[in-house]
Amino acid sequence: MSRAFYITTPIYYVNDKPHIGHAYTTIACDVLARFKRLDGFKVRFLTGTDEHGQKVAKAAAEKGMTPQALCDQNSQNFRDLAKTLGASNDDFIRTTEPRHVRACQALWEKLTAAGQITLGKYEGWYAVRDEAFYDEGELVTNAAGEKVAPSGAPVEWMVEENYSFPLSQWQDKLLAFYDANPDFIGPKSRFNEVYSFVKGGLQDLSISRTAFSWGIPVPNDPKHVMYVWIDALTNYITALGYPDDTADFQAFWSGPDSFAMHMVGKDIIRFHCVYWPAFLMAANVPVPKRVFAHGWWTVEGQKMSKSLGNAIDPNAMVAKYGLDQIRYFLLREVPFGNDGDFSEAAIAGRINGELANALGNLAQRFLSFIAKNLGGVLPAPGDFTPDDRALLTACDGLLAQCRDAMERQAFHDMIEAVWGVVRDANIYVDKQAPWSLRKTDPARMNTVLWVLAETVRHIAILIQPFMPTSAAKMLDQLAVAPEARTFAHLTPAHALKGGIGLPTPEGVFPRYGEPKAGKGP
Ligand code: MSP
Repeated sequence: MSRAFYITTPIYYVNDKPHIGHAYTTIACDVLARFKRLDGFKVRFLTGTDEHGQKVAKAAAEKGMTPQALCDQNSQNFRDLAKTLGASNDDFIRTTEPRHVRACQALWEKLTAAGQITLGKYEGWYAVRDEAFYDEGELVTNAAGEKVAPSGAPVEWMVEENYSFPLSQWQDKLLAFYDANPDFIGPKSRFNEVYSFVKGGLQDLSISRTAFSWGIPVPNDPKHVMYVWIDALTNYITALGYPDDTADFQAFWSGPDSFAMHMVGKDIIRFHCVYWPAFLMAANVPVPKRVFAHGWWTVEGQKMSKSLGNAIDPNAMVAKYGLDQIRYFLLREVPFGNDGDFSEAAIAGRINGELANALGNLAQRFLSFIAKNLGGVLPAPGDFTPDDRALLTACDGLLAQCRDAMERQAFHDMIEAVWGVVRDANIYVDKQAPWSLRKTDPARMNTVLWVLAETVRHIAILIQPFMPTSAAKMLDQLAVAPEARTFAHLTPAHALKGGIGLPTPEGVFPRYGEPKAGKGP
């Protein structure tokens, strides 16, 4: 039976335009989805937009639009962005869709039937920008001397009649759940953060609002709309058919071979790791297997924000540097889980150093040599020397290292492992100098060229999740059939055959900011 992997992005608020932070989460999920598909998993990859709540209603009012019109317009921007980023999502969910309203109301009714929802009066601090409630003790004083949320968002004192969820009663069950599932939250530092937050005691949670109407009506009491986070989190199961026990729901959420994982930014970990599992346990629905929280990008050391006007437009970055280059940069530049600073100088440095020089030249040099001197026919190898064997063994060991890195969502570790072999291969070329063997020892030259081709085959197959278009071009140049590009083909049994004709090579990774070098052997 095939193992199933479900990966979700957070659903993006439609009050604003997409920026590089949103692109980052989507690309990370896409790389995981592609990796798992190539590794033989059945994959479902979901993204979408979060359209209800006070923040969106306010943004629409400020623009003189109806909330629905604003949602339609801005949801499309996120859909377009997913496409521009090459995201291989299987579905795109909008929380204003009927399938989602139905799922939320069904979950609500389950919670009500389980005695988990009561009507009462709520008083407390609320930050519309975060759509979050805060305890007095969590508030901080900003530079202007105002009391604000830890995120810096303004807070207001809210008094409303609300439905409430008894989160405080879930403290022990959540702690027991974390204890039993130490991999539920990654990275480890976030696990510890969530654990101590829950250990510190939980307040009951208000889960409906009456001050505005842009939301999903509470069943049997439509003057209330659902709190936008209970609405938003439910999207993950809506998309699998909840409340129906569909084949998708079983395959990706509840079944024994399912592995459901949410990728989120560090700012929304409490919703995903505390509220969401509590809601699910209370409704007797299985909880997901893992939540990974990545860090935040700053720009030239500053927080990206609308007021500073420094938000980076991912569309512009892709147009300027190339899609694969941006995908690579975002996941290479910063260990996944840490914060990072976005700098265009760093992008150019990586494109030229790691893509054009290290990998691009490695492939280009021996492929043009074969085209020019061997009539474009890949030679067959002779006996291997210890140097040949060392490089081929390094290739054979890569998949295990990559899997290990990706189990931890350590994209940077996977890239480093692959580039370790790129480095080894470049050292090998310099040492073996196949170009000078043409006259002196053509048999040895053949072996070296074949070892290089086989090494690049491994590298290109493995980097497909990160740089699908460039990897495909490299594999085309090695005449690897489209159906022979999965991780199951990373074995000596599928090695390149000597004697095959190779197409005319073309550079795959252009240098940035300099005229084309046109380097050959
Ligand atoms: N709508 C909620 C999520 C609901 S999921 C059930 C939301 N939306 S958001 O549009 O504000 O943020 C979406 C994601 O973008 C979050 O994971 C957030 O961490 C991420 N980022 C927003 N700004 C970011 C950076 N500057 N850097 C990296 N990621 C950032 O929250």
